[in-house]
Amino acid sequence: MGAFLPLLLLAVAANAGLLPTPSHALTQDGLHLLDAKRALTVPDGALADWNPTSATPCAWTGVTCDAAGAVTALSLANANLAGPFPASLCRIPLLASLDLSANYLGPEAAVAGCKALTRLDLSVNSFVGPLPAALAGLPDLLYLSLEGNNFSGPIPPSFATFRKLQSLSLVNNLLGGEVPAFLGSVSTLHELNLSYNPFSPGPLPSSLGGLAALRVLWLASCNLVGPIPPSLGRLRNLTDLDLSTNSLTGPIPPALTALTSIVQIELYNNSLSGAIPSGFGKLADLRSVDLAMNRLSGAIPADLFESPKLETLHLYSNALTGPVPDSAAKAASLVELRLFANRLNGTLPADLGRATPLVCLDVSDNAISGEIPRGICDRGELEELLMLNNALTGRIPDGLGRCHRLRRVRLSNNRLDGDVPGAVWGLPHVALLELNDNRLTGEISPVIAGAANLSNLVVSNNRLTGRIPSEIGSVAKLYEFSADGNMLSGPLPSSLGGLAELGRLVLHNNSLSGQLLRGIHSWKKLSELNLADNGFTGAIPPELGDLPVLNYLDLSGNRLTGQVPVELENLKLNQFNVSNNQLSGQLPPQYATEAYRGSFLGNPGLCGDIAGLCSDSRGRAGNRPGFVWMMRSIFIFAAVVLVLGVAWFYWRYRSFKKAKLSAERSKWTLTSFHKVSFSEHDILDCLDEDNVIGSGASGKVYKAVLGNGEVVAVKKLWGAAPKKKDDAGSNGDNEGSAAAAADSSFDAEVRTLSKIRHKNIVKLLCCCTHDDSKLLVYEYMPNGSLGDVLHSSKAGLLDWSTRYKIALDAAEGLSYLHQDCVPAIVHRDVKSNNILLDAEFSACVADFGVAKVVETAGRAPKSMSVIAGSCGYIAPEYAYTLRVNEKSDIYSFGVVLLELVTGKPPVDPEFGEKDLVKWVCSTIDQKGVEPVLDSRLDMSFKEEISRVLNIGLICASSLPINRPAMRRVVKMLQEVRAEARPKLEPYYYDDTSDQGSSV
Ligand SMILES: *[C@@H]1O[C@H](CO)[C@@H](O)[C@H](O)[C@H]1NC(C)=O
Repeated sequence: MGAFLPLLLLAVAANAGLLPTPSHALTQDGLHLLDAKRALTVPDGALADWNPTSATPCAWTGVTCDAAGAVTALSLANANLAGPFPASLCRIPLLASLDLSANYLGPEAAVAGCKALTRLDLSVNSFVGPLPAALAGLPDLLYLSLEGNNFSGPIPPSFATFRKLQSLSLVNNLLGGEVPAFLGSVSTLHELNLSYNPFSPGPLPSSLGGLAALRVLWLASCNLVGPIPPSLGRLRNLTDLDLSTNSLTGPIPPALTALTSIVQIELYNNSLSGAIPSGFGKLADLRSVDLAMNRLSGAIPADLFESPKLETLHLYSNALTGPVPDSAAKAASLVELRLFANRLNGTLPADLGRATPLVCLDVSDNAISGEIPRGICDRGELEELLMLNNALTGRIPDGLGRCHRLRRVRLSNNRLDGDVPGAVWGLPHVALLELNDNRLTGEISPVIAGAANLSNLVVSNNRLTGRIPSEIGSVAKLYEFSADGNMLSGPLPSSLGGLAELGRLVLHNNSLSGQLLRGIHSWKKLSELNLADNGFTGAIPPELGDLPVLNYLDLSGNRLTGQVPVELENLKLNQFNVSNNQLSGQLPPQYATEAYRGSFLGNPGLCGDIAGLCSDSRGRAGNRPGFVWMMRSIFIFAAVVLVLGVAWFYWRYRSFKKAKLSAERSKWTLTSFHKVSFSEHDILDCLDEDNVIGSGASGKVYKAVLGNGEVVAVKKLWGAAPKKKDDAGSNGDNEGSAAAAADSSFDAEVRTLSKIRHKNIVKLLCCCTHDDSKLLVYEYMPNGSLGDVLHSSKAGLLDWSTRYKIALDAAEGLSYLHQDCVPAIVHRDVKSNNILLDAEFSACVADFGVAKVVETAGRAPKSMSVIAGSCGYIAPEYAYTLRVNEKSDIYSFGVVLLELVTGKPPVDPEFGEKDLVKWVCSTIDQKGVEPVLDSRLDMSFKEEISRVLNIGLICASSLPINRPAMRRVVKMLQEVRAEARPKLEPYYYDDTSDQGSSV
């Protein structure tokens, strides 16, 4: 026992760094650093130059010394360090600056001993528990950042006693309690950042108005309630004021117009009311004002545009009235003006755009009348012109045709008339040209050949005339061409058949003629073809049957002749209509059933096993016009009799049924969103427990094979009455959203979702409702869910190319929900089990069980009180903010990408405490990329697989701001394949598309 004692002492002494070691030349500071290194888990090879044989640590990675060789600063940001905070660092007597940000340190932060620190950055680590109260005792601390950890509990009262602190950031933690008023006594503060913490609801302390030196006050998403204290107006050095995404009420205090240094004011997403005070215009440095998504009313104050540096003004989604002030036309720096979803009226300033370098103008969803300002693009900078849903009149200005930077033009639903200026058709960067529902005239100009980026051309319901120019075949990116409800004439140009990206061709209700196109094998992506109610002649081209994804085919109301090609049996059509033509012959057997009756009506020569078709003759006589006329009359008469009969029968049946069922209360009603050929009873008959193919949080899913052979998936929602939208009560009382609140039931939501049309979104066919039950009927996806296939023995079916395609498909579906739907839709439960695979393994995003529309009638929901999402997919910030937005979906999508790459489920006992994201990160850190990749994949694609892995990790970033918008994700995924050699473009955050916009 006694013999051990000296040894033990020796060990203790060595541990404390007291004994000279072989590296006796190394300074004491260096020894402390080596102790720190030993206490940490350091990745292989890192800090290799922290070498005990050096004389001083001054050349070591991350170390800074003063002239005398004493260590004064240590910076090891992003070094993959793990383990507890290395307390030995605090023994370095002159260590003033310590940056250990973006590591995995935790759980405790024992920093109290670091008396010399002036600057401490522990942001983005794994610290938990209460904030270290002793930090306030560091006498010289100027800068403290603890953001991006999991600190919890209230801000300790000791934080009122910092002596010199200038910058305090606690952003993105799990802090509770109210935002404390005592922070108002840290009078040295320049910067106070507390955003994104789940504080208890509480007021914005007026004491903060006493922080005279404050430059930045960032309190976004801090659960603030009540009014903005006018005392904030005393902060004369304040440049940034961000109180966004709270529940602040009452008016904007006029005192804020006294913030003489202010550059940026962000008050969006609160419940502020009353008028915008005048006086902001005299603030000389003001660049950005965002008051969007409140309940502001009254007129836009004219002086708001007088701030000489004002660049960005967001006032959208309020209840503002009156005209856009004429002063807007004089704003010399204004780049972005978003005023959509208000009640603005009057005319736009006639000179708007002549003097301002406008890049984006969005005045959609107002009641603005008068003309589009002639000079709107005189400065040539305009990229987005969004004016849909107003009462604009007059012509589209010629100047738009010279507006070469335009990317998005949305003027639909106005009263514009006159010819569309020719050059507008050919703008080189325009991706979306939406002019539908106006009174526009003229022809689609051949200059459209220059529209190299046009993907959506929507000009429906106007008075366009002339032919579709053959130059449209040069618009290689065209995805949608909708020109229904015009007076277009002549044949379809054969060049249209070469458009490989075409997904929707919608030309019904025109006067087009000639034969249908034959050479259409390029139409690999065409899903919707609607040529109804034109004057097309000739036969239905059998090639239509080869279009791989066509699901909507309407050729009704033409003069087509010949047989229905048997090749059409290859199609999986949701809508099929060739009625009211002059088709003849036998129907293909698959279509010769009662279910398709409506598809073939009004073709007197057509025969099949459908009563009413081809009643007596075999169609030979059908070629004689008189006969056709007679047949039609007879047919119409018969139809009328039938309809009346059915109506009578139905009426009788209903009263009978009513009497019978009033006791049972089992009245189902079917609301269909696509043409369906079944009834609620067909569906109900199929809901057999034997047919259950899945079961989830929101309900059970059945595969229903209907009488007509059609297969659909039916989701039976659990539980009783449909849930009211949680947020309707809390902010539904302003006039603007009253209607939305009243209509915000489940039904409205389903209806919104039913309008979604995208190839990568599962189609909701109809919805059956009963007092307390709901059935949702979807298109059936034969290969089930990605999760099921990937995490079962069937995973072998998914080779890399298939997985890559699935990733891209799902990304496109989500991108559509986030960025093309108005209002945007957050899925809220993205996971591999909600990505369904069709027969060709194309992927569709499914299950909007918990999806919410992001903006309803100009109000953004505050937070969703129902827990959304599934284990392993939930974005970290959700745990404490309980707020979901697009960014939470993007995180979940990142997890799906990791699943595709690793073949592993999101949570697995193999990962221990970790989830898939953490497991992937730590495994890559320790062992590199190879061990995380699914060994079943063909490693000749390793380069591509690694890049998708990288995208998955970016999407699953712990900080929402680092997650790219879905559109960007789509692009990044496309680039994975598009470039043989990696092009290392930085994955910057594309925030233009994330900004509020009605697009
Ligand atoms: C406000 O800023 C100015 C200029 O930077 C500075 O001189 C002044 O001391 C600051 N005021 C306060 C109260 O800190």
